[in-house]
Amino acid sequence: NWSMDDFIDLQIDKIRKQVGDRKVLLGLSGGVDSSVVGVLLHKAIGSQLTSIFVDHGLLRKGEADQVMASLEGKFGLNIIKVDAQKRFLDKLTGVSDPETKRKIIGNEFIQVFNDEAIKLKGIDFLAQGTLYTDVIESGTDTAQTIKSHHNVGGLPEDMHFELIEPLRTLFKDEARELGEKLGMPEALVWRQPFPGPGLGIRVIGAITEDKLKIVRDSDLILREEIKNAGLDRSIWQYFTVLPGIRSVGVMGDGRTYDYTVGIRAVNSIDGMTADFARIPWDVLQKISVRIVNEVDHVNRIVYDITSKPPATVEWE
Ligand code: XMP
Repeated sequence: NWSMDDFIDLQIDKIRKQVGDRKVLLGLSGGVDSSVVGVLLHKAIGSQLTSIFVDHGLLRKGEADQVMASLEGKFGLNIIKVDAQKRFLDKLTGVSDPETKRKIIGNEFIQVFNDEAIKLKGIDFLAQGTLYTDVIESGTDTAQTIKSHHNVGGLPEDMHFELIEPLRTLFKDEARELGEKLGMPEALVWRQPFPGPGLGIRVIGAITEDKLKIVRDSDLILREEIKNAGLDRSIWQYFTVLPGIRSVGVMGDGRTYDYTVGIRAVNSIDGMTADFARIPWDVLQKISVRIVNEVDHVNRIVYDITSKPPATVEWE
């Protein structure tokens, strides 16, 4: 007879015993999972916690500022923002294989945490918002791996952190329930999921600044129109992807040969399975017209109507 209240007490107790009077660094993304871990850790160990928000250059438009504004100084959290855009993008230059991209991003996160821990001195633990879904999909042997989630895979040998992952047995819906129990605001608890590798896995293939801009700008339009239509709480997750193909179009009286943007929107409980969302045609039309008109180098919009399985939510 398992309840969230028991879970909270149990985890706080466990964290206190594990940490003692030592110090913990938390990788905070601004999403539900790591924020919940932050609040839980702060309850357990107070100022022994320092949080780090990494801007890896693969965030959505306005996201870094929004995250800092909504979390810095709130819930007792003290956050260091690290500008790591250049180091992530440099490492990713020319890399097009999805798993290689994911591993580079996951590894770079750890390197950034390590660099910050050295500066802060005396950090023994690294905390993350890893969910059960991340663990399952990343697989225990290569044959089982569906995709390597950025926060799973362990730490390099030469790093001396111990991991703290209190949500490792929970699914997304349970992480949200936990957030509500901890008194976190609705807007934060019900934020749509956003993967750690960010827009890096939504630009299909090799990442360039120009392609990131297309995904960022089209994603903002999609989010605005989903909100205008009053669908932002009812659709579980929605975003745009740039498959990288170009096709022929006509604008004014000229030929165009430009990019296609894909719209992905799904409903799910826990991310393990998902059904594509039935966005009304008129809303889709508005999104399509706006993206083609407002985002340079896009002349075609497609809507992804596959569920998971057989597709996954993200394209990479
Ligand atoms: P997939 O693409 O595996 O996505 O069907 C299921 C859910 O997980 C999110 N996702 C991730 N979240 N790190 C994360 O924190 C990751 O590496 C990662 N990959 C996918 C995805 O956005 C969806 O909500």
